[in-house]
Amino acid sequence: MKIAITGANSRVGQTFIQHILTHSEDTVIAGARSESAFKSFPDSDRVQPCVISYSDVEGLAKTLAGADCLVHLAGILMEGKGSTYKSANVDATAAVLAAAEKAGVQHVVFISVVGASVDSENAYFKSKADAEKLVAASAVSSTIIRTPILLGPGAAGAEAIKWASSNLKPKLLGGGRYTMRPLDIDDLCVAVLNACNAKRSGSEIHELVGPTPAQYCEIITMAAAMRGNTVSIGSFPIGVAKFAATVRGIFKPGGMSPTVIDVITMDEVVAHNGDQALGVTLTPLQKTLEKFITK
Ligand SMILES: NC(=O)c1ccc[n+]([C@@H]2O[C@H](COP(=O)([O-])OP(=O)(O)OC[C@H]3O[C@@H](n4cnc5c(N)ncnc54)[C@H](OP(=O)(O)O)[C@@H]3O)[C@@H](O)[C@H]2O)c1
Repeated sequence: MKIAITGANSRVGQTFIQHILTHSEDTVIAGARSESAFKSFPDSDRVQPCVISYSDVEGLAKTLAGADCLVHLAGILMEGKGSTYKSANVDATAAVLAAAEKAGVQHVVFISVVGASVDSENAYFKSKADAEKLVAASAVSSTIIRTPILLGPGAAGAEAIKWASSNLKPKLLGGGRYTMRPLDIDDLCVAVLNACNAKRSGSEIHELVGPTPAQYCEIITMAAAMRGNTVSIGSFPIGVAKFAATVRGIFKPGGMSPTVIDVITMDEVVAHNGDQALGVTLTPLQKTLEKFITK
């Protein structure tokens, strides 16, 4: 099978490419917006790096030619210069879907987020839900996987945990009293590759979260214990952080905005975990933390 990945230089993309090389005979079209991203790809004759532009559907379709499956990973939580929720999360998805249809791709896998809703007042959650709608309406069959915070070496969420757990008196937003269901990136890679292999018809949506619900403050305490530390966790009021982010955003839009603060302090709640449907054996949180805390 040939798997095309858009946003292949993302943290999930890099882990997924390695997963494909280790666990299958599949080949990869690795699409990124600039050639400088190619250094993040493993040197393998099964990986074909390609520069892609989400404003050039024809060019994208040429890149996707011959791919059986497309895994679309480009997406942002923090807006920045030239990257808005609309451009990165919605318009880029529309472009890859149009290109996938033209190229005759058989199946699309899209990574969304737990909490995505078209009715959400949160611009990030809404943009991901808008993108899901496009994926579901596409002529190409699809698997949409909604994930919580993803953890693994190099992931943004993992770096935050490493930082907080290395500090003996970390101050967490709201004292870290929100419940998370962190998912091991390796488990997500298993689910995505299984979805590529299954290529089911129509559009399926699954929520895939880790096995252990835990408050963020508990996760920091666990991570600190792995380092042999006992932490005393303080609280930074969420309202104050959002006010500061609003003021900062007047001068420098994007980054840690009130929208992002709402996302990262949300309770990650799911009605039904898709682990069985996606063929995943979930990694215990302790094992996931060991992959990046003690390394
Ligand atoms: N990490 C998590 O905890 C988490 C949780 C839930 C869902 N997800 C979703 O999972 C996917 C992968 O996440 P990740 O953390 O691995 O991502 P990441 O490492 O932050 O990489 C983001 C990717 O999006 C691309 N991108 C940024 N702005 C773009 C724009 N305006 N147009 C097109 N592409 C743009 C980047 O390309 P450049 O390098 O060229 O900028 C990069 O390939 C994303 O869709 C994300 O929303 C992640």
